Parts: sequence; structure tokens; C-alpha cells
Amino acid sequence: MTRADAAKRIAALREQIHHHDSLYYVEARPEIADAEYDRLTRELRELEARFPDLITGDSPTQRVSGVPTDVFKPVEHQIAMLSLDNATTADDLREFEARISRALAGTRFTYVCEPKIDGLGVALLYRRGRLARGATRGDGRVGEDITPNLKTIRSIPMVLSGPLAAVDELEVRGEVFMPRAAFAKLNRTLEEAGETTFANPRNAAAGAVRQKDPAVTGRRPLDIFIYHLSRADALAFATHWETLEALRAAGFKTNPKVERCETLDAVIAYCERLEHLRDDLGYDTDGVVVKVDALEHQRRLGSTTHHPRWAIAFKFAARQATTVIEAIEVGVGKTGILTPVAKLQPVELAGVVIRNVSLHNEDEIRRKDIRVGDTVLIERAGDVIPYVVQVVTAKRPAGAEVFRFPTRCPACGGVAFRPEGEAYWRCMNSGCPAQLKERLRHFGSRRAMDIEHLGEKVIEQLVDRGLVKDFSDLYTLTVDRLADLERLGDKSAENLVRAIDGSRTRGLARLLNALGIRLVGERVAQLLAARFGSLERLAQAPEAELAEVHGVGEAIARSVRAFFDDPTNSALIKRLKEVGVVTAEPEAAAGPKPLAGKTFVLTGTLRTLTRDAARERIERLGGRVAGAVSKKTDYVVVGEAGGKKADHARRLGVTMLDESEFLALVKQE
Ligand code: IVH
Repeated sequence: MTRADAAKRIAALREQIHHHDSLYYVEARPEIADAEYDRLTRELRELEARFPDLITGDSPTQRVSGVPTDVFKPVEHQIAMLSLDNATTADDLREFEARISRALAGTRFTYVCEPKIDGLGVALLYRRGRLARGATRGDGRVGEDITPNLKTIRSIPMVLSGPLAAVDELEVRGEVFMPRAAFAKLNRTLEEAGETTFANPRNAAAGAVRQKDPAVTGRRPLDIFIYHLSRADALAFATHWETLEALRAAGFKTNPKVERCETLDAVIAYCERLEHLRDDLGYDTDGVVVKVDALEHQRRLGSTTHHPRWAIAFKFAARQATTVIEAIEVGVGKTGILTPVAKLQPVELAGVVIRNVSLHNEDEIRRKDIRVGDTVLIERAGDVIPYVVQVVTAKRPAGAEVFRFPTRCPACGGVAFRPEGEAYWRCMNSGCPAQLKERLRHFGSRRAMDIEHLGEKVIEQLVDRGLVKDFSDLYTLTVDRLADLERLGDKSAENLVRAIDGSRTRGLARLLNALGIRLVGERVAQLLAARFGSLERLAQAPEAELAEVHGVGEAIARSVRAFFDDPTNSALIKRLKEVGVVTAEPEAAAGPKPLAGKTFVLTGTLRTLTRDAARERIERLGGRVAGAVSKKTDYVVVGEAGGKKADHARRLGVTMLDESEFLALVKQE
């Protein structure tokens, strides 16, 4: 191949690769298979290796190139990279609008709203459509030249398309960020290698962008959204919106969630919507940037030395905060598990004051090296319970000691033990009052024996005063015996006694759940109750028979057997019967089982009964309810909006029942 032929082929390959890069990284709609893409790149690399003088900086093979540097060259920004003014309430936004109205003397204006990406601002310079330089924001006037690092970001085009490609010198601004999934993966890798993890995607992105070796940056998956074109008005664009369209056409990745808003009410609605969407975006946002759309209006409004007057950042509630650990307390759960909890200097996070945060277990404390007195970064994202992200070691007070996990139960002083291979320490004292309190709390809870008025304060006193030593003692309580409990008037005592009395007939399923047998929760309790009908029969069932029950595996069977084999528990059951707790299912359960062997699947919403109630009827008559439709399914009960499962049943030819047919079946049976 001649040099001229090679040059031609190289140019064609580069164009194709740039095109496919844009489809893949910017638009997320690839048109060719990875193998095909790899083939193009390989061919280009081979040609460039044969004709090294044809290599140019904008070749897709040069994304990761350049030698590691010790210092980044300073870059003076021709146009300062300003900050943004902040708003935290709708009223702040209204004031923003009022200021603009005054300055524009009544001229009508509209807005563009965009997610505020929580990353790092950068400026990219293109000369005649080719990436010439990329810089950090720095202090806004002078940043650092990090071109080789930015070139590794595949959604940054090396060459532009369309009209913008012809512009002599063009500068765009955007936010570099690390997608959440990539961040989680990076932290996992770092953790496995025993290296320090990053507190959040922003820090990870900042670390990656400032790597001395671009090859390292290249291994950290970064992405970018472009949100600004400097000197756009000089290019004859009339609005920010138009500018964004032109940027997209040139090959830049712009945010798909950007919207035009005609009124401030629409802006406020956008902010609310985006805050709800926040967890589903795949990247971190810390607010919404609201911009006046018309560039002419922007020019008239101008900037302060700190921020443009035509834009404002509406900030979402922060999700991370730092605070100080005042103490680490260890609590005891109903099965004796010891859980360490950090007592915090109260701090507000995403609208809630946080005082405690669970530290989970000994290993977690050791891994993060959490000590009393430490300043810690805590996070509360969406519905997630707050947790310690990391210790701010720079703020550790001198003399802060490594936390030693107690080897005795902090509640009863009994021996605590951590079995080999397990994460938790347990209090080994079965009479431990803290465990008893937790068990009583569970016993009386809504989905167990449902005893109203049996609150935490009452349980606390009942145990501490020795009035209750096990569940059966609850049923011997009288208004008289409750008389000297603090803050429990006659009326409340009566209510409590009545509530306890009423719980005697909750049925076997609830009683089984209430007993707190390891691995037996609400669902398993229902299965066992339906199968055995009484506590006596269940207590005598051999392990193998237990394991045969559908939905009850070997581990559960073993745990149930162990529970009834323990003499303390058989004594408890005897006492429960003596005090009148009903330990058998109501008669109907022992009745005929016409649906024995039949499998049902429930889908959609039923109008007259809940799913639990439907399931209960089926099981009472000996049937079983499965989660998914298969050839073995006998009936599919289709409620309203019972989509996929109903379709599947139809395909398999399974009998389908609507609500009235189902009701007729269970009634008739
Ligand atoms: S516009 C003159 N738009 O937030 C243009 N900034 O707190 C001003 N940021 O320095 C910036 N997402 O790094 C703009 N959609 C967005 C943004 C955004 C994130 C960053 C940017 C800026 C900082 C100000």
C-alpha cells in the first residue's frame, strides 16, 4: 500500500470510528456490533503503526496518549467561568424572577431548566472543529490544562460535525461526572485491592480528571454533559435552547432532561419533578439550573463578578453531611444479636434530623476505622437509611481510640460470642432482658399478635419490674398488677388488659410468627399453620415432614425442630395454653381440603378482597399459591390490570378465573 492510499484509508476509518463513537457514547444507540467496531479500530492502529507520520492528535487511537506529567499547565479563561447564585425555595425563585422583570423593564421572557450535574466544570476549546484544549474551571479565571485526560472521555468529540465544525475558535463548557454504576464498580475494585475508596462519584471524577497519567484516567469511566457555548450570540444564535440544539448537532452530549419553561410555575414544577426523579437518573445531580432563554436578555442582564444574573441554581436538599460521633452504643436484638449504633451530634440531612446511625457490625467498624470523637461523612439517599460513608481522618482528635467491640452483653452482662465465619456477636444468655423486650415488642406487633397499647415504654417497665418473664406472663396481667407502672393510668391499664385478652384468639399463623422462631416470619408461619393446623401437631412433626411443606426448606425445618426440641420452649407452649391462648387453627382449617394439590396464581387487583385474603381462602381449602405461571398451574385468578401473567396463562392454556368465578369456586368448595 502506498503512503497516499494509506492516508486515504486512515481518513475514512477515522471518520467511521468518530461516527460510531458518537452513536455509542453520545446518543446511546449503536449501529454496529462491538466486534465490527473493534475490527475498524484494529485496522486503523495497524495502518498508523506502518505510517507513524500519519498519526494526528485527533485520531481515535490517540484518546489515551501522552506521557504522564508532574504539573498541569495553567490556562487563563478568556471568559471567566462563573459560579451560580443559589435558590433553595420557590420563593427564592420568585425573587429571581422579580429581579429579572425589573431589569428587563417588563419585557416578556422565558426559561430553560436543566439538571445541575454534580461533577466538575470544564472548558473545551475547538479550533476549526478539532479538540485543541481542555481545562478545569480552577478558580474561574485560571484553570489547568488537562487535555490528555479529557481526551479519554469517549463522549467528548475529537472532531465536530455540522456548521459548528467550521468555526475558527469555539469554546464549550460542561460537567464531567462519573455515572453511579461505574462509581460503585470502581469502589468495589478499590476495596478488594485494599485501597481507599471514594466518598461519592464527584470525588471519584475529580480524582480521575487530575490523574498525572492519562492511562489511569482512561480506566476510570467518565462522562460529560455540555451545557454552554461561549460567545453563542456572536454565532447568531437567538436562544440558549437553539444553542443546545446546535451543540447536539455538532456531536456534543447534552442532557436529555433539559426543558423549556414558559412561566415560573412551570419552572417550579420542573424542579419538583426532577427532585423526585433524582434517584433514577444514573448520575448525581444537586439541583436544577434555571436559565433565561433569550441570549439578548442574558446580555442585557449581564453578570456580577461572581455569577450571571440570568441564571440561578435551585439546590436540592443535601444528602451528605458531616457530623461528630459522640458515642458508640451497642444494642441487643430479639435474637441476641449485638448491633453497634453511633450516637451523632444531631445533623439535618435531606429534611430529617439524624441522631443515630447503625454501624451494623464489628467488621464494618473496623473496615471504616470508626472511632468515638471522629468526624464522619453520613449519607441518606432516597429511601435508604442513613449510613456512615467514611471518616474524615484529617479531623480525628488526638488520642481517639480504636473501638473495641464488647465481649459481654451490654444489657445483661452475659457472655457474648461471635461464631467463626459470622458477622455478628450474640448475647448467649436466653434470659437476657434486652432480648426479652425485643421479643415482646415483636410478639405484640401488628402482623403478629396485634396487641394495641403494648408500647415500648410499657414493655420496658414490665420486664424491668419482673412482671413479665415470658410471653405467657402477659396473659396473667391484671389492672391491679399494672397499677404502679409509671405513666399508665387506670384507663390505659384497662385498655392494655383488654387488648392482651383479645389477642388470645389471633390464630395459629399469627402465634407462630409472634413466637420469633428463627427463619419463621409471617409467610412461613402461614404455610405451617395451614399444613399442621395446631401447635401440638407442628411440635411433633419430624424434620423431614416439615421440609416437605412447599415453601419451607431444610434450613427452616431444622430451625423449627430445634425450637420445639428446646425444653424452655415446650414449657412456654404449655403455659400459653394454660393461660388460654388458642394454639390451633379455627375449625374450618381442619375441615375438608377440596383444593388439595391445586396450584393457583393470583394476578392483578381483586375488587372485593386483598391478595392476602384470597391466598388465605385457597390455603384453607388445601390449595397452594405460586408466584409465576407454569404448565403446572391449575388456575390463574385474574383481577384488574393482570397483564403479563394472564397473557402467559392464555398461551399455556391454563384455566383462568375472573373474580366472581373465583369466589364461586371457593364458596362452593
Ligand atoms: S451553567 C455561565 N449549567 O455548577 C454558565 N452549570 O455552581 C454557568 N453545573 O460552575 C454554568 N450543571 O460547573 C450550568 N446544567 C448546568 C450545570 C452547571 C452543573 C455546574 C458548573 C458551574 C457550577 C456552579
